[in-house]
Amino acid sequence: MIPYGRQDITQADIDAVIAVLQSDYLTQGPMVPRFEQAVASYVGAKHSLAVNSATSALHIACLALGLKKGDWLWTTPITFVASANCGLYCSAQIDFVDINPRTYNICPEQLEAKLVQAQKVGKLPKVVVVVHFSGQPCEMVRIHMLGQRFGFKIIEDASHAIGGTYQGEPIGSSRYSDITVFSFHPVK
Ligand SMILES: Cc1ncc(COP(=O)(O)O)c(C=O)c1O
Repeated sequence: MIPYGRQDITQADIDAVIAVLQSDYLTQGPMVPRFEQAVASYVGAKHSLAVNSATSALHIACLALGLKKGDWLWTTPITFVASANCGLYCSAQIDFVDINPRTYNICPEQLEAKLVQAQKVGKLPKVVVVVHFSGQPCEMVRIHMLGQRFGFKIIEDASHAIGGTYQGEPIGSSRYSDITVFSFHPVK
């Protein structure tokens, strides 16, 4: 049987959890900023914020970028529902951009063609959520250039991509995006 997921938990991990359980804080204690700082320094990000899930992180990322009713959020059709639902939670409308069949990631050529059409009818997206599917990075330079040209914000849904790299740098620096989201669900 192929397992759904198989985690690697060391004694040090178990000891760290026990130390928290025996401490004064179970939710907002000092381990949270320690974790945030560790992730930020590992990926080279200026800021890092821990929440309960990537689903929540995608939602507050959309809120932080001002997504609201009447706006459009575009994403890839080959993803988990959270990449699109974050827009629905903000009452935005959702549309999908086709993938590159070689990488399974959002296709920059298809994105550009769709943006040109959307511009003609005044329906450009406010936010584009790109997904580094299975940890393979999207073509961020090209997507970033399209963002500059058409004026949309970019969220990297890096739920599959903690530990991944793009152009030799860890995914998560948000060098070519506004916000990057990771998931710590065990299958990731
Ligand atoms: C691409 C993608 N985005 C977001 C999520 C949501 O992650 P979480 O379970 O941490 O909410 C998942 C989970 O499967 C995912 O695959």
